[in-house]
Amino acid sequence: MKLLPFSSLLLPLVLGIVVLRAEKVDYNGYKVLRLSLGESVADIEAQIEELAAHVLNPGRAERLDVVVAPDNVDAVAALAADSTVLTEDVGAVLEEEGEMTTYAVPSETWFTAYHSYTDHIQFLRDLQGGFTSNSEIITAGSSVQGRALTGIHIWGSGGKGSKPAVLFHGTVHAREWISTMTVEYMAYQLLTKYSSDATVRALVDSYDFYIMPVVNPDGFVYSQTNDRLWRKNRQTVSSSSCVGRDINRNWPYKWEVPGGASTNPCSETYKGVAAGDAPENQGLVAQVNQLRDARGIRLYIDFHSYGQYILWPYGYDCNLRAENDAEMRSLASQAASAISGVSGTRYTIGPACSTLYATTGDSTDYTDVVGNVTYSYTYELRDQGNYGFTLPANQIQPTVRETWAGVVSMLQNA
Ligand SMILES: *[C@@H]1O[C@H](CO)[C@@H](O)[C@H](O)[C@H]1NC(C)=O
Ligand SMILES: [Zn+2]
Repeated sequence: MKLLPFSSLLLPLVLGIVVLRAEKVDYNGYKVLRLSLGESVADIEAQIEELAAHVLNPGRAERLDVVVAPDNVDAVAALAADSTVLTEDVGAVLEEEGEMTTYAVPSETWFTAYHSYTDHIQFLRDLQGGFTSNSEIITAGSSVQGRALTGIHIWGSGGKGSKPAVLFHGTVHAREWISTMTVEYMAYQLLTKYSSDATVRALVDSYDFYIMPVVNPDGFVYSQTNDRLWRKNRQTVSSSSCVGRDINRNWPYKWEVPGGASTNPCSETYKGVAAGDAPENQGLVAQVNQLRDARGIRLYIDFHSYGQYILWPYGYDCNLRAENDAEMRSLASQAASAISGVSGTRYTIGPACSTLYATTGDSTDYTDVVGNVTYSYTYELRDQGNYGFTLPANQIQPTVRETWAGVVSMLQNA
């Protein structure tokens, strides 16, 4: 009998922990607010970050999109100079995103729904299995939780590894699911059109393609099992109970410059304790350096969402221009025209810092300077915030098709 108070105290505690781990964030009733901040922006941004469930576009002080629980909506709105409701109910929008369908072998149908991480890996393997003479599965190190960063290498008539590299990365930010689908579509088109389409054949014969749909596998899985709006990896830090580094603020180039990332482990843009201290980053850095030292890299694209931007270096300095800034603008401008030619979707183009916001330790600054990449870009795919990261399934095909047109244009002009 004496044990009863003890065990009745312990039991809920134990259960509580178990439930907490298994429970998925329920976004019903949560709103997306678009805020403009007034004076003393940094201070207000920090307060908002405390109150919000997620900051969707961290760094964008003049137009900050945040997800807020119903109870905190008024408090967050009160901190901003101006606020509008972008999404009335995030839970309802998640339903529009569509169910994950059961696995089907590679076909256009793949691009009509979102998929689990395991199915994405299976898709890559099946795709490669259909084109064994000019493709192979590749990996670039592994994640915090030990998942291999997996991709596909595609080559043409010159043979494996004989041409300058084209490198595509997707899903470095876990919640940006449209980027996974888009990067996969690039691989799908290059392989399935190679024998029937002269344009595609010419491209595949000119470059070695290294295509990595999910470079943040732990975060991606977490966005499917626990929190749909998770951004970072799943790395811990001893000084805090908050989890995750922003892999796209962790690259070892200008990492130490202040202003373009956060030193707070709880922030969406936490840069890590040291440059390149995320295992995923180490794998990607090694990949870039290896391709640089082999045949060099002609084109690098890091696919993100959302906002409809094509950006190029630099992120860390708003006044600095790349040596080939004019050429990068020209390629981006033609790509934006190609995209709007397919669907009317309009992209804004420009150097990253001056066009969108400052970022330090980002992929394109590293690939441009250290990776010696000729053309380095970030694509921010659809949309402009109406659905944000949870783009409905019926927009996957239109998005991947228009983006393919933009990428083909870039490759033809590179
Ligand atoms: C950088 O790339 C150019 C080709 O774009 C090449 O000529 C040069 O040797 C490369 N430099 C290094 C250090 O790899
Ligand atoms: Zn992103």
